[in-house]
Amino acid sequence: MHKLPIIARRPISSLWIFSLVLVSTFAGEVAIMLLLPYLPAWSKTALLQGLLDASILTLVMAPAIWWLVVKPLRRLLESRAQLLHSLFRAQEQERSRIARDLHDEIGQQLTAMLVGLATIESARDLCSAQKLAQNLRKVGATAHDEVRRLASGLRPGVLEELGLVAAIERLCEDFQKLHGVVVQLKVPETDFGKHSLAVEASLYRILQESLTNVARHAQASSVDVALTRKGNLVTLSIADDGRGMKGSADAQLSNERRKQGLDSIRERAEMLHGECLIDTATQGGVLIQVTVHTMG
Ligand SMILES: Nc1ncnc2c1ncn2[C@@H]1O[C@H](COP(=O)(O)OP(=O)(O)OP(=O)(O)O)[C@@H](O)[C@H]1O
Ligand SMILES: [Mg+2]
Repeated sequence: MHKLPIIARRPISSLWIFSLVLVSTFAGEVAIMLLLPYLPAWSKTALLQGLLDASILTLVMAPAIWWLVVKPLRRLLESRAQLLHSLFRAQEQERSRIARDLHDEIGQQLTAMLVGLATIESARDLCSAQKLAQNLRKVGATAHDEVRRLASGLRPGVLEELGLVAAIERLCEDFQKLHGVVVQLKVPETDFGKHSLAVEASLYRILQESLTNVARHAQASSVDVALTRKGNLVTLSIADDGRGMKGSADAQLSNERRKQGLDSIRERAEMLHGECLIDTATQGGVLIQVTVHTMG
């Protein structure tokens, strides 16, 4: 839940307003009484006296009305607008978080299942089809777990259980098995440290989306994944040897509905005040390189 800023101030009490209005009116009347004897004779007609009375009273009352009525009313309207704005922003943030989680968690698993099913369709023999079906069952079970976790508002369980490095190793292993793309993984052997869940979950999901893109668009035979740390900066890079962005541009045009993936990678890096580079890899495919601060 997002905390809303407390912007409403304590209202002024009615008794306090009433007393101030009485005091101001009294002060106005006293001022008029004191002024009257000094006025020239021609101004002492009933009409002029009435006008003078009303003007002095208005002048005396104006600051009180401004301070007691206009200012609080304006403050109230401003707070209301601010509160609505904060509510709207919080709601939007929550929605985009859920959309991103749905895309990054369930979307990836379903894509893996679709790609796997297509492979089963064209399997040459029953044995290899059975092997793939077994893998797909595991993916289905993971997707099912993730739906449950998402529904109860939890973060990716594998990170909590294993830590980032082991979770990445498992993700790469599963990807290689499922898609037949060789993954060359380089992670620090020791002392990678435990980082905030925001940093770990973001890096994990960036890798998930990048690998899903490799399976879906790259037609690659291998992908290099590296996780490195320099001081307070962690860099994750994913580079494939596939056909690159230009090669997959047709698929891009025919599928305008989707394409949240790269945006969500950029957004995740931005949210952690990090940098995201999407470029051509030295192997010819796509390079995705994200550097974030370990403190988030
Ligand atoms: N590794 C890659 N190799 C080749 N093309 C890629 C690669 N990654 C992304 N692309 C291209 O960039 C486009 C945008 O990718 P993005 O992940 O944003 O969307 P998507 O994968 O099409 O859909 P989704 O929103 O489900 O992720 C893809 O449609 C594809 O054409
Ligand atoms: Mg994608």
